[in-house]
Amino acid sequence: MSDDMNGPYSEKVMDHFMEPRNMGDIKDADAVGTVGNPACGDVMRLYIKVEDDKIKEAKFKTFGCGAAIATSSMATEMIKDKSLTEASNVTNEAVAEALDGLPPNKMHCSVLAQEAIEAAIKNYKEKK
Ligand code: FES
Repeated sequence: MSDDMNGPYSEKVMDHFMEPRNMGDIKDADAVGTVGNPACGDVMRLYIKVEDDKIKEAKFKTFGCGAAIATSSMATEMIKDKSLTEASNVTNEAVAEALDGLPPNKMHCSVLAQEAIEAAIKNYKEKK
C-alpha cells in the first residue's frame, strides 16, 4: 500500500476536495441546475445568482465522490463573474485541467460539473 494519501489525485484536487469553495445553497438563487450521473448515482446541484447576464454568485451541493466535489468546487470558481455565454463554454476538460488533471477513470465525474452549469443556465433562461 502506498503511503501517499493523494493517490492518483493532484494537490489541487485534494485541496478542493478537503476545502470545497462555495459549498452550500443560495436561498434566493436566480436559477438552479440539478444533474445526476446514472452510472454511479452521484448528484450535483448548482445555484446561481445572475446580474446583467453575469454570474454573480455560484454555490453547489454535491452528493458524490471526491472528484465530483473537487470539480464542483472548481467549476463554481470558474463561472463566477463570467457572462452566461462564457460560463456555458466552460467544459469539463477545462475544469479538470484547472485541477491539474483527473485520473482517466474519474473524468466522467467532471462531466457532472459541466452538465450542472448547462442545467443552471438553461433553468435561468426558462425562467426569464
Ligand atoms: Fe460518481 Fe465520481 S464516481 S461522479
